[in-house]
Amino acid sequence: MNVNRNKMRLAVGALLSGLVVACGSNSKTSQAQFEAAANPPLGASRADVPAPAEPGASSSPAGTAGREALPGGEVAMAVPAILGATPPMGWNSWNTFGCNVSEVLIKSMADAMVSRGMQAAGYRYVNIDDCWMNGRDANGKLRWSANFPAGMPALADYIHSQGLKIGIYEVPADRTCAATYGGYTPGAGSLGHEVEDANTFAEWGIDYLKYDLCQGQRSSFAVMRDALRATGRPIFYSINPGNGQNDLCPPASCALDLPSIANIWRIGFDINTQWTSWLRLIDENANLYSYAGPGHFNDPDMLEVGRGATADEDRAHFSIWAIMAAPLLAGNDLRSMSAATETILTNAEVIAVDQDPLGIQGRVVATPGTDLQVWSKPLTSTNTRAVVLFNRSAAATAMTVQWATLGLPAGSALVRDLWSHTDLGSFDDAYTAASVPSHGVVMLRVTSSAPAQ
Ligand code: GLA
Repeated sequence: MNVNRNKMRLAVGALLSGLVVACGSNSKTSQAQFEAAANPPLGASRADVPAPAEPGASSSPAGTAGREALPGGEVAMAVPAILGATPPMGWNSWNTFGCNVSEVLIKSMADAMVSRGMQAAGYRYVNIDDCWMNGRDANGKLRWSANFPAGMPALADYIHSQGLKIGIYEVPADRTCAATYGGYTPGAGSLGHEVEDANTFAEWGIDYLKYDLCQGQRSSFAVMRDALRATGRPIFYSINPGNGQNDLCPPASCALDLPSIANIWRIGFDINTQWTSWLRLIDENANLYSYAGPGHFNDPDMLEVGRGATADEDRAHFSIWAIMAAPLLAGNDLRSMSAATETILTNAEVIAVDQDPLGIQGRVVATPGTDLQVWSKPLTSTNTRAVVLFNRSAAATAMTVQWATLGLPAGSALVRDLWSHTDLGSFDDAYTAASVPSHGVVMLRVTSSAPAQ
């Protein structure tokens, strides 16, 4: 059954990658049915959480299966290729620069993405967040601010010439979030201008849109989705359906069928540089794994790696984002980052976990002690799991992962450390890391030598 489902998934994936994306509605009922079947009851002991299914097994996301199979009622629209089959990788201006965005800044960040090895590691999108605009002209067309003297088309050309892609920001309201809360008065929103703005973005050569609810209208997310698709240009669609105040809209409770609308959707309030903020977002995202799949992923927000935390905390942040199949959108200043930060952001073995083609969001499979979690993510290779031993506590400690909690058979398995880039050897039934640092991780790849159960 697992094998058949996997074959079906691969076959449909091949179809999707060539020709179509699904863009109809997916019923909340099927999502709810899946939730009931696959998720542990709320409040269940985390140690009792069942082992993750083999990739493609019946407990994989119902939403994914429904959309891939293009059931009745969904519409297939021709675009050049599936967008966002794996989580997006790139950089965004907001965390470090806020409203201080300019052509000079964005070009220099694209340069740094290349010179600091980020592009080679897979990062592609250079995303301008809020505050790039200067209202609308007499014809209603969006204008870029004076900080972009050569204009958006020229900036897009520059970024494309580096082999990178360019992202931009808008809102389904009349004023952007910074205009609403930060006094950035030229921040004109896209409400009522969806078609002309989508056409403008396509004309400028934009590859990615972050569409941020703030004080806007949730019903407009689908309007912009359709407008983007109608341009014929593949424009990655990132949305934030939370209003930034007190009204979140994670997929488990959102009235919108988020996976049918966007490639990624924010699941929580804004991240900041504090460890507690990272834990909050991890905990909010942990049980949303059933909604993630190729082309549609939960977004626990941009990365804060290299923004003042310890190296252990930064490694933990990056590891958990990777095992959650989260977007890897750096938020630091790439031009001045330390070698240590560069090493974290470009760790190819950790990035490979995030970018695994199965697109499964990993989850907690064991809680061996207070503030200790074992995370697992099925990977494409046969009988292989990514594992994060996550120590959220204030003291270093030993941690053990049991093969049984990974859904792997008893007996021997090869273990590789993805941060030390070392093969640790073959272990029977379990592996114990002698010391997982406080606010830190040990990240492993475990490959069983026997077939998965
Ligand atoms: C909201 C979003 C942030 C950023 C700002 C810009 O707060 O959550 O990520 O885009 O708006 O104003």
